Amino acid sequence: MEDTKRRRLWNPAVDETMGKEQTSHEQIQSTQIDPRTTAFALTAFAQHHLMQQQQLQQLSTQPNQLQFLFQPYLSMALPLLNAHHNSQQTQKKKTGVRIKSVSPSESTPSKSPPLSTPASYSSSLTPSFNPIVKSALGIHVPNENCCAVCGACFRMFFELFSSLWMPLSSSSSKELRSVSDNKVDDVSLYDTNVLLFYVNGNRVEERMVDPMMTLATYLRDHLRLTGTKIGCNEGGCGACTVMISERDPLSGEIRHFSANSCLMPICGVFGKAVTTVEALGNVKDGRLHAVQERLAKTHGSQCGFCTPGFVMAMYSLLRNTPEPSVQQINEAMQGNLCRCTGYRPILEAFYSFAKADTGDLKVITETGCGLGEKCCKVNGNGNGNLTDLSTCAPYDPTHELIFPPELTLKHTELRNFAMAHDSTVWYQPAHLADLLVLKRLHPHARVISGNSELAVERKFRFIDLPIVINPRQVVELHEFSLDIKRGVYLATGLSLTQMDERIGEYRQQLEEFQSQTLLEAHKMMHWFAGKHVRNVASIAGNIATASPISDLNPLWMASGTTVVLESEERGERELIIDEKFFVGYRKTTIASDEIVKAIWIPLTEKHEHVTAYKQAARREDDIAIVTGAFCTLLDAETQSVKHMRISYGGMAPTTILALRAMEKGKGRRFDWSLLERVTCELASSLVLPAGVPGGMPRYRLALALSFFYKHFLEVARRENITSIPESIESTKIGESIPQDQYSTQSFTEISSGQAEWDAVGRPIPHVSGQKHTTGEAIYYCLHGAFVTSKFASGILESIDASKALSMPGVVAFFDASDVRPGAKIGHGVGDTDVFVEREIRYNGQPLGLIVATDHETARRGANAVVVNATQKKAIVTIEDALDAKSFICPDMHIHSTMAENNGEQVVSDWNKYDRVVEGTIRMGGQEHFYLECHQCVVIPHEDDELEIVASTQCVADVQTEVGKCLGIPRNKIRVSVRRIGGGFGGKESTAPLCAVPAAIAAIKLRRPVRITLERFDDMAISGNRHPFRFDYKVAVDDNGKLVDMNIACLQNAGHTFDLSIGVIHRCMVHLDNVYHFPRVDVIGKLCKTNLASNTAYRGFGGPQGMFATESIMTHVAEQLGMDIDEFREKNMYESSAKTFWGNSLDPCNARRCWDECIEKSDYYNRKQEAAKFNKLNKYRKRGVALTPTKFSIGFGLKHLNQASALVLIYTDGSVLVSHGGMEMGQGLHTKIIQITSRCLGIDATKIHIQDAATDKVPNASPTAASMGSDLNGLAVQNACDQLNERLAELKNEMPEATWEKLVETAYLRMISLSASGFATTPCDPVDFGTGAPGGEMFSYAVYGTAFCEVEIDCLTGDHHLLRTEIVMDVGDSLNPAIDIGQIEGAFIQGYGLFTMEEIKVRPDGVRLSRGPGAYKIPSADDAPRHFSVHLLKGSSNKNSIFSSKVIIFFELLVECGIKGTLEQ
Ligand SMILES: Cc1cc2nc3c(=O)[nH]c(=O)nc-3n(C[C@H](O)[C@H](O)[C@H](O)COP(=O)(O)OP(=O)(O)OC[C@H]3O[C@@H](n4cnc5c(N)ncnc54)[C@H](O)[C@@H]3O)c2cc1C
Ligand code: FES
Ligand code: FES
Repeated sequence: MEDTKRRRLWNPAVDETMGKEQTSHEQIQSTQIDPRTTAFALTAFAQHHLMQQQQLQQLSTQPNQLQFLFQPYLSMALPLLNAHHNSQQTQKKKTGVRIKSVSPSESTPSKSPPLSTPASYSSSLTPSFNPIVKSALGIHVPNENCCAVCGACFRMFFELFSSLWMPLSSSSSKELRSVSDNKVDDVSLYDTNVLLFYVNGNRVEERMVDPMMTLATYLRDHLRLTGTKIGCNEGGCGACTVMISERDPLSGEIRHFSANSCLMPICGVFGKAVTTVEALGNVKDGRLHAVQERLAKTHGSQCGFCTPGFVMAMYSLLRNTPEPSVQQINEAMQGNLCRCTGYRPILEAFYSFAKADTGDLKVITETGCGLGEKCCKVNGNGNGNLTDLSTCAPYDPTHELIFPPELTLKHTELRNFAMAHDSTVWYQPAHLADLLVLKRLHPHARVISGNSELAVERKFRFIDLPIVINPRQVVELHEFSLDIKRGVYLATGLSLTQMDERIGEYRQQLEEFQSQTLLEAHKMMHWFAGKHVRNVASIAGNIATASPISDLNPLWMASGTTVVLESEERGERELIIDEKFFVGYRKTTIASDEIVKAIWIPLTEKHEHVTAYKQAARREDDIAIVTGAFCTLLDAETQSVKHMRISYGGMAPTTILALRAMEKGKGRRFDWSLLERVTCELASSLVLPAGVPGGMPRYRLALALSFFYKHFLEVARRENITSIPESIESTKIGESIPQDQYSTQSFTEISSGQAEWDAVGRPIPHVSGQKHTTGEAIYYCLHGAFVTSKFASGILESIDASKALSMPGVVAFFDASDVRPGAKIGHGVGDTDVFVEREIRYNGQPLGLIVATDHETARRGANAVVVNATQKKAIVTIEDALDAKSFICPDMHIHSTMAENNGEQVVSDWNKYDRVVEGTIRMGGQEHFYLECHQCVVIPHEDDELEIVASTQCVADVQTEVGKCLGIPRNKIRVSVRRIGGGFGGKESTAPLCAVPAAIAAIKLRRPVRITLERFDDMAISGNRHPFRFDYKVAVDDNGKLVDMNIACLQNAGHTFDLSIGVIHRCMVHLDNVYHFPRVDVIGKLCKTNLASNTAYRGFGGPQGMFATESIMTHVAEQLGMDIDEFREKNMYESSAKTFWGNSLDPCNARRCWDECIEKSDYYNRKQEAAKFNKLNKYRKRGVALTPTKFSIGFGLKHLNQASALVLIYTDGSVLVSHGGMEMGQGLHTKIIQITSRCLGIDATKIHIQDAATDKVPNASPTAASMGSDLNGLAVQNACDQLNERLAELKNEMPEATWEKLVETAYLRMISLSASGFATTPCDPVDFGTGAPGGEMFSYAVYGTAFCEVEIDCLTGDHHLLRTEIVMDVGDSLNPAIDIGQIEGAFIQGYGLFTMEEIKVRPDGVRLSRGPGAYKIPSADDAPRHFSVHLLKGSSNKNSIFSSKVIIFFELLVECGIKGTLEQ
């Protein structure tokens, strides 16, 4: 039994291979050629002969081939190693350490005898051969492979063997034992002070490292394994996910789990193996892991910044469960966020590993689609050619790295480890006795379990941790048992995941009625953080943190769970977790010398009912708004309440028991009157004051009451209480939501006549799709961190950096005095300080820059800078700005009547209209939340030349601003970028905020300087999507036709211009959406506030305008009693039309998209079904809605509608294309390659794009306004036309010549093989000063309609998107895979905007939402499982490259459908 389990957890496939290897030479050969399996075993032996530097170089590369040569000789070591294993097992029995289900009452952990000694190992040497040891070693016995000629192998074996053996035998004088005897804080007495762990099968040894440095930083900065990304540094995004493998100190079982490397302290991986994305596969060697390959093939990565994290999350799952269920896959993704894809393609890739209900794997080779039977090819709905997994090899779990044998043999999991570093002393005892002594000696030392709480605390509060104690290896803290009288005992060394597993096992053994608390704990675990956090976080950490919004503490309280505390002096004591346990905000009764040892979860009696609920802004991986847990015990005969416990989180500074309400329920019959009494009491005792921390007082109270109501209904249902009707369902949102995915992507397939080499129109994967798993360029540089303002408005009096400058590692400080007089950042206007000179204008504004030797020191230095400033009243909202008459510039206008009246505005007479509707709509901002924060590196060269690599959407902008602020001509500044980890407009104009200060520092210090913003700072320093308010008045005639509209658009611009004017212009010209307004007067106001300057965001103001229109349409329809769909149809543009601001729409495909969406979504039937559902369900409701959209394409500023490109052909036929557009996940480079392929008539594989750089293409416009592929594509086409013209004669002369031959001949005949292309698109803008409509401001428009079906829990507001169908007109798609990916991604971003993303700013202007903890973007769980996209067929566009239409920023608008549905 134990063996079976061990095998399962280990790696069944590897075990099997190992077990069989001796019987078949063929198998030996095949396993030998797998480099990873063999390399892993070998590196364990070879490691300490390799210089550390060499090791580091190897970490990200293929294993050293030399190592394979010596594999045969390792077999000689096996008998000895086997003896180790046996002796270890023997010793375990002697010491009484039990493998499973240890009852604490039987154990005397604090008196555990010392662990085995090396002497006992050697005394029990036996020659027998143990297959488990074999598998642990990953060793084969291929004697035939030995040449045995030179003898070098024997020498090498000797060295290898002794390297393994010596550390164990040399410890004979120092037994593996308790540190003990009050000297436990003497680091030198520990078994080891060397941090030993493995990364990707390679050994790493550290003798002196800051123990609290995160694993993520160590991997990236020390090992240069940059595949692991940092997106937030606080456990909230999953970009840093790695797999950790460890041996359980109690059972010896190997456990693989995903973890956030940004939370894991480096010393926390002592004795463990870390696997990063680099170990899986890489493009260079043409070797991708099945997870990577499938993700690339389903187009599952766009900007790619989240991709390594997703890969590692899935990989970790497969290591434990090679054929997982869909549910397990969903759970494995819980901690990973993607801002680009909309999740559908990621899920498709990963679901292909899942077993279907039938037991078959989901990839069916005929369709090659991960959706299996749900594939649109099978069900006949779509073309289904976007994804082809049929060429993917089946996943083979036998080829994975195994756990490092050295760690197994050394039993690192049982060793006492300590490290003394200047900043922190890290103790990691293996015995409870030692742990308790340490805690007595250092009562104020922090105990670190999973570090998920402490890491965040340390990061934001910059707390020092001189001593930390890690209890995770204490054997006694891994115990668990079931006592039928007392309940379930769980020691706190178990992670939450392990706790959940144990609970699951015990539930199997118990009657259903006994395990209600266990079941609720299991259910709650699903909503507790994400999988990667749960894999490391502990129950102890959760209890000791005493967070008022803990998910588990209310359950412990309601169920009467007890906590076991222990100190050295007073021994064990047990406390019930009740109203006396939590004594204040984040305070408990735990004494400073005590540790949390375990909990006892009581079993429930018959007729005792426990339920628990949580409501958060996002369904998964989010901190609760309110949690509630309830326990009611009924008398079976009288149905009266014997006891009732009601506990809440989120309703007070601590978790509470609602004592008075509990009292009201006690002894009463369980009926409606009980509900009334208890609810009334709760309603009066739980009232929260206005201004309560966390806000939403009324909603929180409503949740608390709803939760109790749910409990009440649930108890009534279980007890079959007839007076409470069955028909009132205990609402569980999403019960009927399919776990599985249904999706269709339809598009026009390329014609059969299209040449093989012509890539246009093909759904080829993103050119970087595979490379997204690899690292990035490495620069050895200094690091900068900003000192930022603490308040939003004030005067900077003085700034003192002397304390920071005295800190080791801090190099310099820069502030306004280092900036050239008058130098300011800002498009044209130049109104943004590089560093505040005097006036503080927003919270988070850069005041100065600390430069240090590493990022963390720079951050700590910045925190030590003393700022002296006086605070002023801040202007925060649009209303504040109106009151203070605070505006950025004069108002903007459009008056449609000016077009027909020779430039004269005709003022409307509103008295003449019978049907007028007026109102106000507000729309909040949105954080870009690109996964890669702003970063740049500036490298100074001679003659003041600067080389800048920046995460920007506009290299020219960075060049301009740096040149302007430093007084350096632009020809000396080279700015380049290969790809960025998402932009969405947030890196269009804001990159200079980092690049200019970094350049100032680099020039002065003559050293490269890097600034990488923490998510916390990124979200404060740079602005967001603009919040808007719209005041409107609309007139409609008797036929329901729109007649007139007067509307004011009030924009919250923030503290400077930035791009606010462009944004408001676009907002104003999108107010028509798809409707014909015969007369419109618009006014645009730019309100100046004390916020970071709001900036471009996907759609650039268009979404705000269209949102206003759709809301107005709904309002008018409601007011006038019209059906909203009819009202829309009546006013929708005809196929050719003109907008109120002068643009012609020809052809206008709004109606076509609308009609097709109705058909594809089966709209009318779905509407009826929803109505039926709503009749049957009192508290769960469904709504369906259709939303049409139109978006105009082009820059509103005329001169930006130009682009250049450079096409270079080399004599081997390869082609290098450079253009001014940035690749940020939108597939721009892929499309440009496709365009070049068609233009030059060559295969796409011959074409390459390196980066966007100012020395290749000057003065490039930003990659924005959806113009990336249009403008740059046209420029490339122009360059190719020139080259084709030059080659035309030669082509005629040599019609049969290959491309390579043609190019070579051209070179020999001295024909130029490079060309610079140029392109413009027309733009005749509106005159926003006078309000006169323009001519053709935009070249064309794109159209779409979305259908959404949403289910909502009326008691809590919880909701789920059930189904989405989108029809989009993208002309002749250049690449359907990319276009559909963009549509899906934009849709989910829009879903976030209208449902969960909320920028929180205090009335004094202090920004509260500064990271994923407080700002929630949708997770994979939020993506509709029925998600289909159809590209409108038969649409083309004469105004763009190859009749395509751009897609990038438009589709965001379809999300209005979601809002509409929710409103219903
Ligand atoms: C991204 C993210 C999401 C989260 N989501 C949730 C959520 O949904 N719900 C929720 O409730 N919490 C959540 N948390 C908070 C946190 O994960 C939990 O509170 C977790 O249980 C803490 O456990 P830990 O082992 O990581 O604690 P640590 O960070 O290691 O320690 C926390 C505190 O407990 C003390 N401590 C730890 N172990 C012991 C011990 N054995 N004896 C005495 N004191 C001890 C430490 O000294 C410290 O003060 C989240 C955290 C993050 C980073
Ligand atoms: S960087 Fe670690 S979770 Fe975001
Ligand atoms: S591809 Fe996921 S964040 Fe960009």
